[in-house]
Amino acid sequence: MNSAPRVFVACDLPESVQALFTDRFQARCNTLRRTLSPEELLEAAQGADALVLTATDKLDTAMVASLPTTIKVVCTYSIGMEHMDVEALKARGIAVLATPDVLSESCADVAMLLMLGAARRAVESSALLRSGQWTGWTPHQLLGVDVWGRRLGILGMGRIGRAIARRARGFDMVIHYHNRSRVAPELEAGAVYHADLASLAANSDFLCVACPSSPATRGLVNADIIDRLPPNAVVCNIARGDIIDDAALVPALESGRVAAAGLDVFAGEPNIHPAYRTLPNVFGLPHIGSSTESTRLAMGKLLCDGIEAFFAGSDPVNRVA
Ligand code: DGY
Repeated sequence: MNSAPRVFVACDLPESVQALFTDRFQARCNTLRRTLSPEELLEAAQGADALVLTATDKLDTAMVASLPTTIKVVCTYSIGMEHMDVEALKARGIAVLATPDVLSESCADVAMLLMLGAARRAVESSALLRSGQWTGWTPHQLLGVDVWGRRLGILGMGRIGRAIARRARGFDMVIHYHNRSRVAPELEAGAVYHADLASLAANSDFLCVACPSSPATRGLVNADIIDRLPPNAVVCNIARGDIIDDAALVPALESGRVAAAGLDVFAGEPNIHPAYRTLPNVFGLPHIGSSTESTRLAMGKLLCDGIEAFFAGSDPVNRVA
């Protein structure tokens, strides 16, 4: 008899990642190429020991209460956990695994892309080239703002924030940060700590959001914070859209108070604020932070290793609750 854990992979994973689960477990996968409805998910999870979902699968309090009693562990194929009621899972004695660490470097790469793309007017430059209207180099064409040597303010100095800081130092940027608490000196690596976000904003030519979304961080980058940014600042977001108040950022981009924004994440995805689709000074990407073949495989492998460790009675390195 097969004693491997019974795993239901509810999220729509690439086939190569699904194979990691089916090779190691008695796994069933969602092959519909879409997000399951809550009813479909609960129905298909019957009899499973472990459930794998991702940021687009909502596991709210009511869903947690309705999970089959067989479920011992819920795994999210993401670093973000705002889509799950983690406290309710804990209260039911269900362990929670996520994908920390393995996606930090890919996300930090995209954070640099956001800063460069926004500051150097990639949207307008690319559009001009593709339009066939480019008449050749001129000294005044598409002047942007420099990235190198500027002050980078990082909101959230976790693993992704620190990976961004490492890259930005290669651009001679001066690193400032705000975090719930100051990080150890070896992790800070010379970055300037600001105990409050207002102070960080005043010192950020580039403000890059890299903290988790939570009740404490939603709407944190509001009109007051935007007002404190220096002239010609660039705002970037690699974390979650709802940390920025769109009603504050959009007018600042329209007026030029903020020079540009580089955004990989948006409130209400995929129904984003319409201005982000049309403003020339918005370099927007469709939530691709961790989208590389190798990172997506590493995320799957980390969850598989965690499931195996959990059912073998040891503590998975990626257990978050
Ligand atoms: C993550 O891992 O949280 C990504 O943003 C996908 O949701």
